[in-house]
Amino acid sequence: MTESGLAAAGGTVFAGSTAEGAALLRAAGALLRDRNLRGPDRLAADMIPWALRASALVKVPVIRRIMPWAIERRMPGSVWFELARTKYMDDVLRAELAAGTTQVVLLGAGFDTRAYRMPELTGANVFEVDHPVTAARKQARLRGRDIGHVRYVTIDFNREDLATRLAANGYDSTAKSVVIWSGVAPYLPAGAVSGTLRWMSTQAPDSCLVFDYVWQELVDGQVATRLARTLLKAVNRQGEPFRSGIPRGRTTEFLAEHGLAVQEDNGPDSFDPYVTRTDGSAVGPVWDFGGIVRCRVPQ
Ligand SMILES: C[S@@+](CC[C@H](N)C(=O)[O-])C[C@H]1O[C@@H](n2cnc3c(N)ncnc32)[C@H](O)[C@@H]1O
Repeated sequence: MTESGLAAAGGTVFAGSTAEGAALLRAAGALLRDRNLRGPDRLAADMIPWALRASALVKVPVIRRIMPWAIERRMPGSVWFELARTKYMDDVLRAELAAGTTQVVLLGAGFDTRAYRMPELTGANVFEVDHPVTAARKQARLRGRDIGHVRYVTIDFNREDLATRLAANGYDSTAKSVVIWSGVAPYLPAGAVSGTLRWMSTQAPDSCLVFDYVWQELVDGQVATRLARTLLKAVNRQGEPFRSGIPRGRTTEFLAEHGLAVQEDNGPDSFDPYVTRTDGSAVGPVWDFGGIVRCRVPQ
């Protein structure tokens, strides 16, 4: 696997790594004026490098206000989907921590800023798992911030074993965990997705995994909507095609086959609470060919 992720759509609009693309969508979401709609990631813009490219406009006062709309024009549904994903995953994390979980794993963390922007995480054992190149870039961009509570677990998923790398960095597989796997699964071959899900199923009972997926029908080219066509074209052009999905409506069975129990499966119909303006109106179309699932290791 090279650097990739569903959230990479921003990267296809404005050049940069796919992890930066995801950060760009979050940075844009955080600039929205409507406070109900606005995204929570106020640190995301710090993860975008100053460079002679359009994504850096997200850092420029006044001009940056047009960014959410400029991105939505080029990649319809992307900013809204990222808002839904970020807010939902934040909510799950808060709920799990409030229920007593103390171990947090950000799998393929990229420029995820949760560990630095969510006060709830300062007392947790946080593991950011990522490729050494991305991890180094991120730490450079976080310079000046307190990162002492985060353990950076560098890994090359193509060559190294997740369980071994986590254990070497102090992860306790007998303690309950919450694992965030954002913007990664659609780009992995089915075998790599299965491997990660099976690893998850061997974690402490009642541990929680939250991740986003696309429908297998999208991967197979059977979803003919404008939003789907635009995104597929973009990821293919970038050389990072979607490689696997979950058959539409079959998430429960799919995860059960991997030893996990679905708690919530949010399809496009459930994104409204995260993408509704203060006056109650909804934004334009959100990516509608996948979902965000919260599942657990059975007790
Ligand atoms: C698009 S990013 C997702 C970032 C983040 N989770 C988010 O939602 O913004 C995919 C991440 O997977 C990591 N990755 C890609 N290939 C990898 C590999 N072979 N080994 C380890 N990490 C890898 C990248 O470094 C990147 O941070």
